Amino acid sequence: MTFSRAIKIAPSILSADFADFGREIEAIESQGADWVHVDVMDGHFVPNLTFGPPAVKAFRKHVKTVMDVHLMIAPVDPYIDAFAEAGADIITAHVEAGPHIHRTLQAIRATGKRAGVALNPGTPAEAVAHVLDLADLVCVMTVNPGFGGQKFIDMTAKIRSLRAMIGDRPVHIEIDGGVTPDTAPLVAAAGADVLVAGSAVFKGGSVADPAPYGANIRAIRDAARV
Ligand code: DX5
Ligand code: ZN
Repeated sequence: MTFSRAIKIAPSILSADFADFGREIEAIESQGADWVHVDVMDGHFVPNLTFGPPAVKAFRKHVKTVMDVHLMIAPVDPYIDAFAEAGADIITAHVEAGPHIHRTLQAIRATGKRAGVALNPGTPAEAVAHVLDLADLVCVMTVNPGFGGQKFIDMTAKIRSLRAMIGDRPVHIEIDGGVTPDTAPLVAAAGADVLVAGSAVFKGGSVADPAPYGANIRAIRDAARV
């Protein structure tokens, strides 16, 4: 896939119907999702539990776009191969999840997958300054991770710093948490190109009535055209 800074909308299936992931993934893709964002939580790094590699492998059969797997787990290194084998296209690990983010990104790259590094709201941009050549994506959390539907935390200054640090490297800036048509223009103007959205995409729709998913995706994309 060629690198582009065009805005990409990545719905988080954390806000989907947990009894119907296959059809939910097909619904968001048919309604214009660019990527599918999968939130993996371990009840330790974050106070919530979601999916392991077998679930991610099952999602893979339905994803035709890009499966963007966000690992909110610690330790992370022992599970990288399993998530790669499950079919992730992008594997993102948190800088706060262990002492060796450089080794973690090398391990992700060694699987042949694209590597992402995520920053919690309290972590400065400088934490990734020395790993940018090992990363395909930097994920800026705009909520404290663990749950969908939380209030957006303004990280505009951090996004601008990262955008300057990245320069012309082919590294995406992804924003995760509280993205809506109101907050999308702020993060897009600061330099983000991948917008994760859970509640703002899934609200009002269902697999039986997916048109609201499309309207929600378009509303975020249009708002991000800055
Ligand atoms: C938060 C997750 C997010 C979350 C986004 O821990 O990483 O991907 O699902 O949900 P909204 O868009 O509802 O804030
Ligand atoms: Zn996420």
